[in-house]
Amino acid sequence: MSEKKIMLELKDMTKKYPNGDGVEHIGLQVNEGEIVTLLGPSGCGKSTILRTVGGFLDVTSGDIEINGRSIIHLPPEKRPTAMVFQSYNLWPHMNVYENLAYGLKLRKMPAEEQKTRITEMLDMVGIPGMEKKFPSQLSGGQQQRVAIARSLLLKPELLLLDEPFSALDAKIRHQMREELKKIQQNLGITVLFVTHDQEEAMAISHRIVVMNKGKIDQIGSPADIYDNPGTLHVASFIGEMNFIESEGKTIAIRPEDITVLPEGQGDLEGEVRTIMLLGHYVVLTVQQEENVIKCNIDRAQSETLQVGDRVSLKLGKHTVFDRAQE
Ligand SMILES: Nc1ncnc2c1ncn2[C@@H]1O[C@H](COP(=O)(O)OP(=O)(O)OP(=O)(O)O)[C@@H](O)[C@H]1O
Ligand SMILES: [Mg+2]
Repeated sequence: MSEKKIMLELKDMTKKYPNGDGVEHIGLQVNEGEIVTLLGPSGCGKSTILRTVGGFLDVTSGDIEINGRSIIHLPPEKRPTAMVFQSYNLWPHMNVYENLAYGLKLRKMPAEEQKTRITEMLDMVGIPGMEKKFPSQLSGGQQQRVAIARSLLLKPELLLLDEPFSALDAKIRHQMREELKKIQQNLGITVLFVTHDQEEAMAISHRIVVMNKGKIDQIGSPADIYDNPGTLHVASFIGEMNFIESEGKTIAIRPEDITVLPEGQGDLEGEVRTIMLLGHYVVLTVQQEENVIKCNIDRAQSETLQVGDRVSLKLGKHTVFDRAQE
């Protein structure tokens, strides 16, 4: 495997708005060809970071480097970045071709080359032949494809995407994710992606940066973050998780990591409260002292159980948190 090259680096970057909100001490390295996602609840500072990288916001302190060079004093158009906002920002009075050609004209690309590249790009983003349509004649998904095409035509080294798919319905959103991954691989481009949707982050990213209240909680691969959450916030934000209070500690364990056994054979004793069939598997809830614990079991096992049965839970992979530390 080739050596990883750091493309983007945020060095102890702080951005404070006059009212005191913002992000603090952000340290992050993004390698060339990587998709890294900023993930966290609304207001945690994801867009703030993206805008400082794109050059739409000044930093308060710290530095941002691209290919080892500080970029914080460069205006957006001098940075090797392109940003796609949540609202597509297409010009309504221009058709698709004109929207796409605008930036190329500014760069004085010959008209013939513009045409070739726009045709190719519309093909790549899956909307060939749409040149003559106006934004108002396109669906949300098609407009977003045009917005992505427009930013890719500028051949940015780093593509910044702020919740690009959040306005789309679930089916189109899934399709767009797949296509973005393909385009990213084909072009070998580096992507900094923002979402508050943990499933989207897991599906799309090489690495995820989980944020909370203006700070980074954890950086890791989707599997790292899922298997070894570093904080209670990460544990509760990613996937389904039980929090079992026991002897002053909190045990975080996923429903799929619990085995339901006959009374006396596991780690914790409880009583079956509900049994819910969810297709190919069954969710059982078990009352254990003050805890209500969700467990995933298979259908065959669920048929041997009834509400009110005493059972024992064997805990598989889990993380123990000290409540006081959080
Ligand atoms: N221009 C601004 N002036 C003052 N405060 C701001 C400004 N923009 C954002 N904030 C505040 O900074 C914090 C981070 O905002 P930011 O937009 O980065 O969050 P976000 O993670 O992108 O949220 P969302 O998921 O809702 O888009 C929030 O508390 C927000 O209210
Ligand atoms: Mg935002």
